[in-house]
Amino acid sequence: MAVTAAEAGFDLTLSDEQELAQRAARDFASEKVLPLAAEIDEQGKIPPALLAEMGALGFMGAYVPERYGGSGLDTVSYILIVEEINRACASTGVVLSSHLSLAIEPILEYGTVAQKEHFLPAMARGERIGCFALSEPASGSDAAAMRTSARRDGDSWVLNGTKNFITNGSLSDVAVVFAQTDPAKRHKGIAAFIVEKGTAGFSVGKLEKKLGIRGSDTAQLIFADCRVPAANLLGEVGDGFKIALSTLDGGRISIAAQAVGIARACLEDSLGYAKEREAFGKKIAEFQAIQWMLADMATEIDAARLLTWRAASLKDAGQDHILAAAEAKLFASDVAVKAARDCVQIFGGYGYLKDFPAERHYRDAKITEIYEGTSEIMKLVIAEEILKE
Ligand code: CAA
Repeated sequence: MAVTAAEAGFDLTLSDEQELAQRAARDFASEKVLPLAAEIDEQGKIPPALLAEMGALGFMGAYVPERYGGSGLDTVSYILIVEEINRACASTGVVLSSHLSLAIEPILEYGTVAQKEHFLPAMARGERIGCFALSEPASGSDAAAMRTSARRDGDSWVLNGTKNFITNGSLSDVAVVFAQTDPAKRHKGIAAFIVEKGTAGFSVGKLEKKLGIRGSDTAQLIFADCRVPAANLLGEVGDGFKIALSTLDGGRISIAAQAVGIARACLEDSLGYAKEREAFGKKIAEFQAIQWMLADMATEIDAARLLTWRAASLKDAGQDHILAAAEAKLFASDVAVKAARDCVQIFGGYGYLKDFPAERHYRDAKITEIYEGTSEIMKLVIAEEILKE
């Protein structure tokens, strides 16, 4: 179980490059994203120009090697960027992390050189957005129970089925899609495919209306005799389940960073309000009831961030990060939900109004306990890892 700081090469000092990435993302988030966050939530969509700017700044391909058109940063730098964007707007944050951690990652990790050269440069620049199509109407946590089928026919694979809850589903130009080639083999029959927008038989179904992260795009994807070239098979037939789960290990680190970003927004907004708002003749920040909530938030955010950085450092070091990623996501998502609840409480009646950001944080935080593996699945993964020893 590689979890010690030394084994992870885990250093709390950020390098110059990491600090630069953090500063660039923080400036961009506060100047360009934060002013739009309420509108993005209200309108249920993100201005395409904002995503284009994130691409131009190199965020959309943060850890893609430069030879494939990316910024060549490490995972820790990427995680710092993810926290900053989510501190401003969780909808914008999840577009970035689904694109990079879930769609680019499996192509980078399992793609052939030809696939990487073909797909990655435009994706890394944010010119083509990606999504990850695993969940289905009847299979979420039990991902191996998927029903979408893939049948080989000559030089193609023919896909049939429906994928649900797909972040970036309608925005995407490139989808990494998982399908079953032989139900009798259960997870060993699953294969992964790169499917491009415009492929005959591939269409976008229902767009979901959601409690939070309303600006992000959550869509159903439909495959009806969708013919995918055999050259778009990712890895080997039977590798699909492992590709999905190992991709999710990295994705979970970015959701932990998202949760830290949301929790930090709760703390910073609460601090600002508590120092201004007066009750009983003094600032509410002077009341211990408020101070304790702020102290808990600050402590828990620091702990969540450390778990997230540790998981990212392990990934950078090429070490097993299944356990560290699950712990980070489990803890950070819980911290975000609690911080959001306390943020609404500190704002009192105003916390319940759309005029203030607290209610948005409250709605946005909840999803971090659900997507890319629920908290219950995180506990299952953690228990399995610690019982292995
Ligand atoms: N990496 C690589 N391989 C892994 C793995 C990992 N993290 N975890 C397990 N495996 C391998 C196992 O070693 C095993 O391999 P062998 O057969 O060769 O021994 C194989 O996968 C099957 O393992 P299990 O029997 O443990 O699999 P399972 O069917 O019981 O499922 C699970 C395990 C942990 C519950 C898994 O299904 C899981 O993580 N479920 C949650 C799925 C999820 O996170 N969905 C989110 C969807 S994406 C999303 O939210 C999208 C979005 O748009 C934001």
